[in-house]
Amino acid sequence: MNKVIQKAAKVNHSKLCTSLLKWYDKEARKLPWRIPPELTKKGIKNDPYKIWISEIMLQQTGVKTVQTYYINFIKKWPKIQNLNEADENDVLKEWSGLGYYRRALNLKKCAEIICENYNGKFPNNENELLNLPGIGSYTAAAIISIAFDKPAIVIDGNIQRITSRLYEIKEDLKKSKSKIYEKLEKIISKERPGDFAQALMDLGSTICKPVNPKCNSCPLLKYCLAHKNNTYKFIPLKTKKLNKVIKKGYLYIGITTEEKIILIKRPKKGLLSGTICPPSSDWKQNEFPTPKPPFKGDWKILNESIFHSFTHFDLELKIMISKINEYPNDVYLEPLNSSILKSLPTVMKKGVALVIDNHII
Ligand code: ADE
Repeated sequence: MNKVIQKAAKVNHSKLCTSLLKWYDKEARKLPWRIPPELTKKGIKNDPYKIWISEIMLQQTGVKTVQTYYINFIKKWPKIQNLNEADENDVLKEWSGLGYYRRALNLKKCAEIICENYNGKFPNNENELLNLPGIGSYTAAAIISIAFDKPAIVIDGNIQRITSRLYEIKEDLKKSKSKIYEKLEKIISKERPGDFAQALMDLGSTICKPVNPKCNSCPLLKYCLAHKNNTYKFIPLKTKKLNKVIKKGYLYIGITTEEKIILIKRPKKGLLSGTICPPSSDWKQNEFPTPKPPFKGDWKILNESIFHSFTHFDLELKIMISKINEYPNDVYLEPLNSSILKSLPTVMKKGVALVIDNHII
């Protein structure tokens, strides 16, 4: 047996778990969807609806940004029945700025299924949760552990990093998932599974950070092989990111004679699906497509472009602008001032803000 395996075999899983939970009892972040550890210990239960909303928001958005969105969302739709009855466009409006709008459309679909097939109550097993729109393995495990306080293996980026460092797992993250899963199965708390998952989330974002981890404040320091062997800087290993594709297109800002901006609802499929935006051209790789404005007008192109980075590609949009006299009656009209910005997806906000800020109209 080599040295590293010997050391790993000595880890006392239950002591490790106790150290983590003790730290969480003192240091847990105060988050609007979270029941603090002193109350979970008294048996106060989470509302699965609220945990579901927070976890969907947190899928692709950071904790800092999500908090305000979460508070506003719950104020507006405090129960799943309220969300089920809500207008899809209102939900998309509330979501604007969070990105990945399919999440909001899936929320509506999922609310309908839960209300119609489950009498408004979330199922408390992973398999049934996995069948619901927008819920993948991470979110199902997070709901089971946090909302129902049942053991489930939650693995997000933070938890992957902590576990890889604790056990000095040197494989690329894509390959190490099953090893990480096995290790977590051993250390998970059967008594406080929800707090255990959240403790790891907090540890990952406040202590065991990707760069400059605060090892001296870490409750798991004495169990951490990567710290012992001074390899934590290289763990987890990452494959190099490929260069992103660049796409190009046009954003068409049509203004009516009443100084209103013309918006359309984007198709249900694809990026920004179902959101209400100024019309845009196709987005073509590496070159601009031929501009084809959607309404008759005297279209001009602005000198300045806007740039936006999506997960898989970067986008450059040139802005075209025109006064419009005639338009179809299924468009949406909004006054062209800064109050419209908050309801637009970020990339569209950049385009419309450019027009407003430069007093182009
Ligand atoms: N990231 C994902 N889910 C989270 C949660 N429930 N608390 C904190 N960070 C998270």
